[in-house]
Amino acid sequence: MMKKNILVTGGAGFIGTNFIYHALKIRPAWQITNLDALTYAGNPANFDNLPDESAKRHMFVHGDIKDKNLINKLFKEKKFNGIIHFAAQSHVDRSIQDPEIFVDTNIVGTQRLLDASYRYWKDSFLPADFRFLHVSTDEVYGSLGKNGFFTETTPYNPSSPYSASKAASDHLVRAYFKTYDFPTLITNCSNNYGHYQFPEKFIPLMILNLLEQKSLPVYGNGENVRDWLYVIDHCDALVTVFEMGKPGETYNIGGNSERKNIEIAHALCDFFDKTVKIYAENSSRNLIRFVKDRPGHDLRYAIDASKIKEELGWTPKFSFEKALEDTVRWYLSNKKWVKSVKSGEYRKWIKASYGKTYL
Ligand code: NAD
Ligand code: DAU
Repeated sequence: MMKKNILVTGGAGFIGTNFIYHALKIRPAWQITNLDALTYAGNPANFDNLPDESAKRHMFVHGDIKDKNLINKLFKEKKFNGIIHFAAQSHVDRSIQDPEIFVDTNIVGTQRLLDASYRYWKDSFLPADFRFLHVSTDEVYGSLGKNGFFTETTPYNPSSPYSASKAASDHLVRAYFKTYDFPTLITNCSNNYGHYQFPEKFIPLMILNLLEQKSLPVYGNGENVRDWLYVIDHCDALVTVFEMGKPGETYNIGGNSERKNIEIAHALCDFFDKTVKIYAENSSRNLIRFVKDRPGHDLRYAIDASKIKEELGWTPKFSFEKALEDTVRWYLSNKKWVKSVKSGEYRKWIKASYGKTYL
């Protein structure tokens, strides 16, 4: 079996962690170097349950994607077969409060990583299958009305500082392909949910508030729609694009599971009433509070994923209802992890965002 050295950035965050578990399981020849700056969203304890056989093929490096010397040193040591670039500031609400770090990480950071890897690739004999896969978001396309879908040719029209910074990073990645022939790939994916998601995001926030019998803040009227994808389906799509995608191309990834936010809140309340049983029957919906809307809140996202299906044969495998239940059960049975992420920074953020009500 030919060993493959892969650099994963941001691997201690939500999707990166799931990717490392999944990729090491399905690709026994892969050795992963996980470069992560360990911001509030990165948690090295995520790897406590990595099976021994996978742990041997996972090397954690604490560092910043902006550190070109470090990237260079890692390339020299490992002669990577490719990079899967997750590292980012990822939360829309934080980008509204403090846009600058989004420019710094998502735009400057991506450009530095691209440049350091491009220069190494140009001057050295890296494996011929070398690819730089940039993990991006459907939010670059802006908002849909009630109808239609995002395709790979939908014009970029981002609404938040987060999505604007991801849009800029996509343009830079594409520019390195067009200008320098650097073999890049871009994926634009819809909303993920699953194990290890930081509880600032909607689904884990609802689950943990339900567990602690706290209010459930739903922005605006709860009619906003997201196209939900189980994180393992996303990880599988990323392996597919990394191995089979055509350099210079973009692939949309989505779950065919559009849901209104209020429908998700109801589904989670009903699961708690029926299965977790810490509430009197049909009572947890009383915790829902419609709160001030997010500024520039996109109404609807929905992905047309026919290109990745037709060209690379990928489709999502998990059903939304089953995977959502599995996600709730994971948070219920991983109390130590929950406790660790709910300290320090997390609490400051909740306080700054929601005031004392949701603490
Ligand atoms: P996350 O916030 O959970 O994790 C981000 C990780 O990046 C953290 O571990 C953090 O420590 C690390 N990081 C931040 N700045 C860094 C830096 N300068 N150097 C090195 N590491 C750094 O994010 P996520 O939800 O796992 O998202 C991962 C990627 O996928 C992001 O690029 C995001 O835009 C994209 N994406 C996310 C979703 C989603 O629903 N979560 C959907 C589509 C695309
Ligand atoms: O579409 C992909 C994107 O999905 C990723 O690029 C982002 O990194 C990821 O954070 C996610 O962005 P969203 O803004 O859609 O996710 P979030 O979980 O923050 O919100 C989902 C929906 O729920 C959105 O319509 C806002 C709403 N919401 C969110 C929170 C945190 C609430 O109603 N209440 C809340 O407390």
